[in-house]
Formats: sequence, C-alpha cells, structure tokens
Amino acid sequence: MTGHIIIAREAGVQTIRINRADKKNALTRAMYAAMASVLSEADEDDAIRVSVLMGVPGSFTSGNDIADFMNYSMGGEQGMEVYDFLMALARSRKPIVAAVDGIAVGIGTTMQFHCDLTFATPRTVFRTPFVDLGVVPEAGSSLLGPAALGRQGAFALLAMGEGLPAAEARAAGLIHAVVGEDEVEAAALEAATRIAAKPPEAMRIARDLLLGDRDALVERIRHEGKLFRERLQSDEARQAFMAFMSRKK
Ligand code: COA
Repeated sequence: MTGHIIIAREAGVQTIRINRADKKNALTRAMYAAMASVLSEADEDDAIRVSVLMGVPGSFTSGNDIADFMNYSMGGEQGMEVYDFLMALARSRKPIVAAVDGIAVGIGTTMQFHCDLTFATPRTVFRTPFVDLGVVPEAGSSLLGPAALGRQGAFALLAMGEGLPAAEARAAGLIHAVVGEDEVEAAALEAATRIAAKPPEAMRIARDLLLGDRDALVERIRHEGKLFRERLQSDEARQAFMAFMSRKK
C-alpha cells in the first residue's frame, strides 16, 4: 500500500485517507489503484459497513496528477486505475461518506456525486476545470450533475469550471452539511459510526433504491471515459497541461 493512501478499519468503518499534502493530494495511478482495491474489498467483507473518504487539512484532492495526464497526452500508457476506481465507486454496495476540507478539484468534486453523505468546510470550493484543460466531465458527472444541480447549475460547474462554494453545494443538495475545519472528520466519522450500527441488509436495499439506474451510470462513465481519453491527446489538452507544468518556471 502506498503511503499516499492510508487505510484504517475500526468497528465497521473503513477510512481512506488521501495523504499527499506536498502536491495538494493530487492522485496518481497508484493512489487510484489503492482506493479501488479497498473499496472493492469492503464490498466483500461483512466486517466493513461503510467507507469514509478524507484528505489532509486544506486539501481533499487537487484531482488527477497533471503529470500523469501529460504523460498520456504525449503517448504514454494511461492504465485502467482511474476507471477501476470509478467503477468501484459506482458499483459500491456499501455507503460512502466523505470529509472534504479545502481543495476539491476535478475528481475531488465528481466523487461527491457517488457519496451518500459529504461533510465539507466553509473554505471548501468544488471545482472542475475540465473544459479549461481541454477535457470533458467524467465519473458519470454528465449524468448525475444535471440531476443534482439542474442543467444550468451543472453547466456552470462542469463546463464553465466555476467554483461551487460548500454553502452553495449544500443548498443545491450536492453535499449533506457544512461544518468547521476542526469538526469535519469527526462529523463524518460519527455519521459513519451511526451507519455501521444500522441493519446492513436494509441499508443496502435502501441505498440501492436511492441510487437509481446503475447500469445507465456505468454506461455513462464508460462513454465519458472514451471521450476523456481521446481529449487527453488533443492539442487543447496538451497545451493546458504544459501551461500548468511550466507555470512557475
Ligand atoms: N497534479 C500535479 N501536481 C499538482 C496538482 C495536480 N493536480 N495540483 C497541485 N499540484 C502540485 C503543484 O504543481 C505544486 O507542486 P510543486 O510544489 O512541486 O511546484 C504543489 O502541488 C502545490 O500546488 P500549488 O499550485 O503551488 O498550490 P496552490 O495552493 O497555489 O493551488 C490548486 C492549488 C489545486 C488550485 C492548483 O495547484 C491547481 O490548480 N492544480 C491543478 C488542479 C487540476 O487542474 N486538476 C485536474 C482536474 S481534472
């Protein structure tokens, strides 16, 4: 297990901490692979009732590592790790809670569409600069976004790349609650503990009913993924990645 993803399991609650503070918790292929495998393991393990995603103070995640995007855009291998992680999220049979503080970019935002309860802090801003990077919405957000935010709210977030502050995300129903920076992890863990204490089979069925058509979601993730990979190799994307990588030189 990479030190960038820290797993703890206690009393039915699995916590998955993204821990790469020096890069604002940008996600590498190894980190996606680690998260995908523990989410899938949780599905098979009766002792785990719920997973909690969290980051470090000030950074939930800055999204996919741009160096990995750049590598693929220059002809390198992309791998299936992101896809495996998205499938593990979309197919999860157990509830997923998130504690989000600060930076929540790209997949750090679109992950929330798959979470059952997200707690975020007042300084959190959800942001998806997909189009600015020459790519397209992913993680099923093109399907779940309009349902959660309305078509225009989804356009502002997912196509315009406008930031959605936590309070507005709460008002729109994208997240569950806004709590202080010092309380966010405790609030998420407390909710997870309550989930873990409930009858698991009834919880699974209730959650399934709320999720709607998972086959359509999986199909949309596949379709977005195909377009996303094509876009990663576009000139628009390559230029955006180069601009990010060289911005401090
Ligand atoms: N991929 C790779 N490296 C990243 C990264 C990412 N997604 N996000 C941040 N980093 C790195 C920076 O390059 C920098 O590395 P360095 O110290 O070696 O130069 C370090 O993390 C700190 O980032 P910095 O930009 O200095 O912090 P900031 O607080 O000024 O800004 C962000 C934070 C998240 C707003 C900014 O880093 C950013 O826009 N990142 C890209 C987000 C993105 O587009 N993700 C993809 C979405 S699809």
